[in-house]
Amino acid sequence: MKKIIILTLSFLLICFLFMQFFRPKIVNSPASADFQAPPNVKAIMIRACYDCHSNATSLRWYDQIVPVYWQVAADIKHGRESLNFSDWQKMAPADQKSKLWEIVYQISAGAMPLGSYTEVHQNAKITRDELSTLKAYVNSMAAVALPDDTAKINAADRQYSQWRKEQFLIKQVPIAPNGVRYMPDYKNWQAISTSARFDNGTMRVIFGNNIAAAAVRTHHIQPWPDGTVFAKVAWDEVEDKDGNVKTGAFKQVEFMIKDKEKYAATEGWGYARFKTPKMIPYGKNALFTTECINCHRPQKNEDFVFTQPIKH
Ligand code: HEC
Ligand code: HEC
Repeated sequence: MKKIIILTLSFLLICFLFMQFFRPKIVNSPASADFQAPPNVKAIMIRACYDCHSNATSLRWYDQIVPVYWQVAADIKHGRESLNFSDWQKMAPADQKSKLWEIVYQISAGAMPLGSYTEVHQNAKITRDELSTLKAYVNSMAAVALPDDTAKINAADRQYSQWRKEQFLIKQVPIAPNGVRYMPDYKNWQAISTSARFDNGTMRVIFGNNIAAAAVRTHHIQPWPDGTVFAKVAWDEVEDKDGNVKTGAFKQVEFMIKDKEKYAATEGWGYARFKTPKMIPYGKNALFTTECINCHRPQKNEDFVFTQPIKH
């Protein structure tokens, strides 16, 4: 009996040692266009994000052991693909701004740094103070808004009431390249959340249909039930001379429709975006959804949805 145990253990040990030879390479190529920011901001990113989102990955000894190493290598590959601080300066200034906004959003939503990573690398956790530092930095980059003139504000008001009454000039129901149809009724759904985006001066409202609202009431949002639809509508922001901020020109509406089977290829959600009051479908072909999914993927533990009803 003892012999069998010893033999089995030795066999497992040999397998384990042998496995160590199967290692995808992690290359740290030189960073020619590294992230530029005030030192306190940069230090946070280096400590909490650079292992996966830069060419300056530094692995601890326990990260190097297979099979942990396989997960680490996969995270680094995907992490660098979606955001690489070492290539930061290659992005246009406007893209840098919106990336920063997204970074703050991902951190506040608790999606980044990855939980599987902070469990082991405790010191990578972002504290509340650090999050405030990042927010203050991103806010400081927002353009200073001058009051808009009366003509612009009146035009915006007219457009808003047209939008309420569905008088936008749409000749036929627009259809996105992946077959998702425009749903004019969304403005009568329940508003689930609103947000202002400081990097590009837009204002957004997120609506949910009856199924979404019922799922919130009954706490069935993990996953969201088939038939759930979200609509996110965005306007420019205008500001009058008294500092009142309200909706300006209509920009776009985006939809996410849950259907596990129909949209299995896109993680169970059908995505669509319609731009300008003419509701022009976004995307050359059905692959436009890759862009949507990539940005929503860090929310995969929340069924790819950012907007969360308040948790009790
Ligand atoms: C353990 C590795 C790891 C760490 C550490 C990490 N990330 Fe990520 N990050 C990923 C992976 C992998 C993805 C790709 C999406 C996914 O699979 O969840 C990602 C995606 C993102 C995205 C979405 C990019 C896009 O547009 O597609 C942002 C933004 C982001 N991370 C920001 C951060 C920030 C900021 C930090 C530090 C506070 C951080 N991440 C730390 C692995 C990591
Ligand atoms: C740059 C990242 C990014 C991209 C790309 C993106 N989204 Fe989103 N999306 C978000 C964030 C962040 C929210 C949270 C709400 C907000 O804007 O404050 C969101 C929210 C939504 C919502 C409301 C439901 C929710 O998850 O909260 C819908 C609907 C939506 N997006 C549709 C789309 C569609 C369709 C596309 C592609 C055409 C797309 N998104 C591409 C970042 C992104």
